[in-house]
Amino acid sequence: MPDMVICGKMFVEGALQYAEVAVDDGKISAVAKHIPGGDERIELGSSKTVLPGFIDPHVHLRDPGMTQKEDFSTGTLSALCGGVTCILDMPNTKPPVTDLETLMDKKRMVKGRSYVDYGFFAALSPGARINLLAPHVPAFKLFMGSTTGNILLNDDAEIAPLMEQIAATGLPLSVHGEDDAMISKEPEKCNRDHLRNRPVAAEFSCIDRLSRYPGVRVNICHTTNAEQVERAKAAGFTTEVTMHHLLFNADRNPDAFCKVNPPLRDEPTRVGLFESFRQGRIDMFGSDHAPHTVSEKEQEYGSAPGGIPGVETTIPIALDLVRSGVISMKQIVAMGSFNAASVFNLNKGSITEGKDADFAIYDFRDVREIDVRRLHSKCGWSPYGGMRAVFPDMVITGGRVALEDGEPCGEPAGRDIRG
Ligand code: NCD
Ligand code: ZN
Ligand code: ZN
Ligand code: ZN
Repeated sequence: MPDMVICGKMFVEGALQYAEVAVDDGKISAVAKHIPGGDERIELGSSKTVLPGFIDPHVHLRDPGMTQKEDFSTGTLSALCGGVTCILDMPNTKPPVTDLETLMDKKRMVKGRSYVDYGFFAALSPGARINLLAPHVPAFKLFMGSTTGNILLNDDAEIAPLMEQIAATGLPLSVHGEDDAMISKEPEKCNRDHLRNRPVAAEFSCIDRLSRYPGVRVNICHTTNAEQVERAKAAGFTTEVTMHHLLFNADRNPDAFCKVNPPLRDEPTRVGLFESFRQGRIDMFGSDHAPHTVSEKEQEYGSAPGGIPGVETTIPIALDLVRSGVISMKQIVAMGSFNAASVFNLNKGSITEGKDADFAIYDFRDVREIDVRRLHSKCGWSPYGGMRAVFPDMVITGGRVALEDGEPCGEPAGRDIRG
């Protein structure tokens, strides 16, 4: 008898169809038209839709070192409530994750506090011991432009020897691709100024420079424009996009709350990026969930840190785009789950025998306006308040119900995917 059987309309083999899925020991043990029994049997009515749990390959949960902004419990709870059952956490925590000891300390510190599965990036720094780090991480991270965290590495002479070692590990390399040498440090008072200081040319430069290392699986984070996406694809790189770069521009959202790296661009550039997205040119959503406190964001523009929270809102907003016919369900599942699983080698991303039993279940009639007070990030603000979104009704992680009737339930049971 399977531990659990879920019955309903689900995204199986590329389409929504009625199916039943059996779960044993946290994994999918069968998918069929009918599976009898189940110690726990979840019969979903026809109004529910079961999708593979979503994967966010780009979050900053701030733990350890900046837990006034977010911590591992609040950040992963926020993920869970947004239908995300696995997050990959960036290394710009304090101290930065550039060596094995810091990585292992971070793993110890968050243990038992995560509501979803997780993995940690290690950052490239001069002389980093890539071989020691590789068995414990899904991927590496390279910051070529200055941003929160000061782990900038933009010197080709220092990058080149590391690239050889990364190629040998076969692991992907996510890149903050703004060439710091092309970022101007002129004073800034609004997002227009930030945009002027950080041109798209700085993004193109990184793609050119990284294409000298064909053995490395480069992933370009937070793409901001269509040309960058095409250049990255031509170089054989994968790409991520955030909801803020898809929906906002520097003029409509001028203040420091929407200060972010890379910057929000102008409206024509945003429209071009959205069109790339609509045409399926971008591989993944990466929320770049970058919580900062309200008081940090309320400082004068020049001193305010860059970054926008989004782990809880990205997929719900994307699903509203499905509901309103802007984008297909298939594309959202690909960008939000399947592609990230394949890029980062996670045993997730589809409702298939053998995969982890992670599911996000929705009632598409339940469209809501985002109420910032009901989000779970410690930072307490969001630029998405009032926007329409479809939040999960139920979430199952590793075969356990972790969210029911829209509310989280149970203990944090998330696992380190490279633990
Ligand atoms: C991120 C942060 O705050 O950690 N900020 C941002 O503006 N995106 C860092 C980053 O991803 O660049
Ligand atoms: Zn049946
Ligand atoms: Zn970045
Ligand atoms: Zn980031």
